[in-house]
Amino acid sequence: MGEPVSLGEVQETLLIPLYGRARDARNEKSVLGDRKAVDLVEAIDYDFEKFRGPSLAGSVLRASIFDEYVREFLRRHPDGTVVDLGCGLSTRFDRLDNGRVRWFDLDVEDTMSLRRTFFDDGDRYMMITGSIFDTDWYARVTEPARPVFLLSEAVLLYFPDARVHEVLRRFADTFPGSGLAFDTSGPAMMNTQDRNPVFRAVSARMKWTCADPTTLEQFGLRLVESRTFASPQPGVARTWPAKYRYGLRLLGWAPPVTTYKLNLFTTLGEPAFA
Ligand SMILES: C[S@@+](CC[C@H](N)C(=O)[O-])C[C@H]1O[C@@H](n2cnc3c(N)ncnc32)[C@H](O)[C@@H]1O
Repeated sequence: MGEPVSLGEVQETLLIPLYGRARDARNEKSVLGDRKAVDLVEAIDYDFEKFRGPSLAGSVLRASIFDEYVREFLRRHPDGTVVDLGCGLSTRFDRLDNGRVRWFDLDVEDTMSLRRTFFDDGDRYMMITGSIFDTDWYARVTEPARPVFLLSEAVLLYFPDARVHEVLRRFADTFPGSGLAFDTSGPAMMNTQDRNPVFRAVSARMKWTCADPTTLEQFGLRLVESRTFASPQPGVARTWPAKYRYGLRLLGWAPPVTTYKLNLFTTLGEPAFA
């Protein structure tokens, strides 16, 4: 008998990228090589096979683009702090640990309690139970002389515009001069959720539509780069199977590809560590 899951609506969606990474790990040419995801899928009592369609591979490609944003931050700031907001059962720390980073994974209570069944805190790896919308974790992740990189993958999309805008403004005020990566989605993807096979298998729906990430600069951010599945970092593209590397480039003009963006921002202002 596997580990039972009892997760809220949005929290349950973490099982989609988990299954995507597990399937990827079983491929001969795996993008992420996330063997732990295979172990977790085997250990969790859940009908993963109900998840089908291109979003499974999409969650792997997405993770690889976000990984490279974090890698680039760590190349410049090997002793920096990374905070993964809404981490789910991500194994990103294991993939990117450079032996020096200080890493926080944050998620809400039911997800964290599942996560703690499988992961332990370490010297430089800490889990925080809390919400991306709380403020009490800010002090915990802030340390003089340590640049901060905030990352939130497939989380903000599930919340209404006003809450997202408010939290982005707060990040800009609290973490000046810091890296911030998250995804945005335009109407072409938001309006077709009910036709997406993975969303047909869960009750959560995404709420926040943002067609143009430059509009978020008004909240105290500067857009550094914005990628789609047709424009991953060249080094990342080389890790993708040819069908995605070339196929998605050919589809680069099509709304399902152009509408979903993986963005890297910096918050304005002088970094506290400067
Ligand atoms: C689609 S999953 C993404 C998980 C992970 N980022 C990944 O890509 O594998 C959405 C995640 O948002 C988390 N979540 C939901 N509400 C949250 C909140 N208020 N604060 C932080 N995380 C939240 C869920 O628990 C879940 O882990």
